Amino acid sequence: MKRTNDRSDRRGGRRKFLKTCGLAAAAWTAPAFVPSSVFGARAPSERIGVAVIGNGNQATIDIPAFLQNDDVQVVAVCDVNTASGGYKTPQQFLGRKPAQEQVNKYYADKTGRGQYQGCAAYRDFREVLARSDVDAVVIVVPDHWHAVMAVAAARAGKDIYCEKPLSLTVAEGQAMVQAVRRHGRILQTGSHWRSHPWVRHACELVRNGRIGKLERILVTLPPNNAVSPGPGWQPMPVPPGFDYDMWLGPAPQAEYHRDRCFYRFRFILDYSGGQVTNFGAHRHDIAQWGHGTELTGPVEVEDLGGEFPPPGDLFTTALKVAFRCRFADGVELVCRTENPDSPTRFETRFEGTEGWVQFARNGVKTQPESLADSQIGPDEIHLPVSNPARSGKEKRINYLIPDHVRNFLDAVRSRQDPIEPVEVGHRTATICHLGNLAMLLKRKIRWDPDKEQVVGDDQAAAVLARPLRPPWHL
Ligand SMILES: NC(=O)c1ccc[n+]([C@@H]2O[C@H](COP(=O)([O-])OP(=O)(O)OC[C@H]3O[C@@H](n4cnc5c(N)ncnc54)[C@H](O)[C@@H]3O)[C@@H](O)[C@H]2O)c1
Repeated sequence: MKRTNDRSDRRGGRRKFLKTCGLAAAAWTAPAFVPSSVFGARAPSERIGVAVIGNGNQATIDIPAFLQNDDVQVVAVCDVNTASGGYKTPQQFLGRKPAQEQVNKYYADKTGRGQYQGCAAYRDFREVLARSDVDAVVIVVPDHWHAVMAVAAARAGKDIYCEKPLSLTVAEGQAMVQAVRRHGRILQTGSHWRSHPWVRHACELVRNGRIGKLERILVTLPPNNAVSPGPGWQPMPVPPGFDYDMWLGPAPQAEYHRDRCFYRFRFILDYSGGQVTNFGAHRHDIAQWGHGTELTGPVEVEDLGGEFPPPGDLFTTALKVAFRCRFADGVELVCRTENPDSPTRFETRFEGTEGWVQFARNGVKTQPESLADSQIGPDEIHLPVSNPARSGKEKRINYLIPDHVRNFLDAVRSRQDPIEPVEVGHRTATICHLGNLAMLLKRKIRWDPDKEQVVGDDQAAAVLARPLRPPWHL
């Protein structure tokens, strides 16, 4: 059986891992007042100490996905916001205090012994990185912080689960790859759809030639799901309990407005790349997996009429996404904002000389239809599996992120790469960044995927990196 980069079902011994990494066993000790039964059967020295940095919208999903593992102890949470409403929805009341309460309540409920106070809460992530009992950090902050935190975490000897998109710029992604490899750390990118059996099956059908020769990949993105305050927006006072300067961090100094920060940062280019990097970090990742171009990228990226907000608007990311990439093998990838009313919605679709395969949240569709049930033979290409117990027949997807997290935890133990290592997350993010760049500059960009350089366009090359506001650096 051919397996490419198969990291499935590897459960290396914790003690061997400690020895390999030269970590002191003391770093794994649970707080003395916690009964060992709180965390399940594993001895304290076998548990992975986890800290969650960024306690907003996505952390409400990531924190439980870590908590439910008996070999994990969430020892700290960290956020520059103490607690407030106004995240993705006005009802979401989030920040480090609610997150700390959530973790403490989980462990208290688990023992049934009343109080648990073992989870610390921090405002400054550097204090988290200084803790010797933190083995892994979960980075769930806005994208403009990912690289600075991940590089610092790698340097501090922590393993990293970093939410997608991996980076804000190509240069930041390169720095993350270097830091993770130099310091021998494990990094899982949070593009969790890779851990779903449907996605794997769709990609295996393409990789094994079931649709003939791959010719075209279509990626669709939803329209923006937040309304900008518009060009006439007025600054607002910073709310109490919110360290706005630390929220801005490496991004340019800017006046506070409610719609700049929680959740809606993704529609401002100083902090993110709009739906191109938001949903695109999932859907281009699937495109890369099915195409087998995970460690390379396109040779050309061209604007197809992307549209941006008017000058002076608070939101600056594309309102309408439209770009095309061309790969060295002649395959083209077209990414567009979807029509939400279209009866044939999909997320990533592969078109070949003999049919097509598409993935959407309600499953995999193929042409011819019989392809969907096609089995991958023992001598064909098999892609990595996060959880071999999943049949792919289950309709609910609530196991998706827990499986992706488990795959990371297994990698932490085995010291083998997880299903979405740093290079792969970086290459997916690179496609998104190049797509934004082509749309912003309104022209075709030639790209050398081996050297990771723009060819013959100094203006485009200059924006692959951005200056970081001091004192922040990579
Ligand atoms: N995997 C997925 O499907 C998925 C879904 C949603 C979001 N995400 C990703 O998760 C990340 C966070 O998105 P979100 O929707 O949770 O945003 P959010 O604004 O709801 O939460 C981010 C939190 O990070 C905090 N923060 C900002 N700077 C910080 C710092 N220096 N130190 C500590 N905390 C800091 C903010 O105060 C906020 O509470 C983004 O990169 C996003 O792309 C991934």
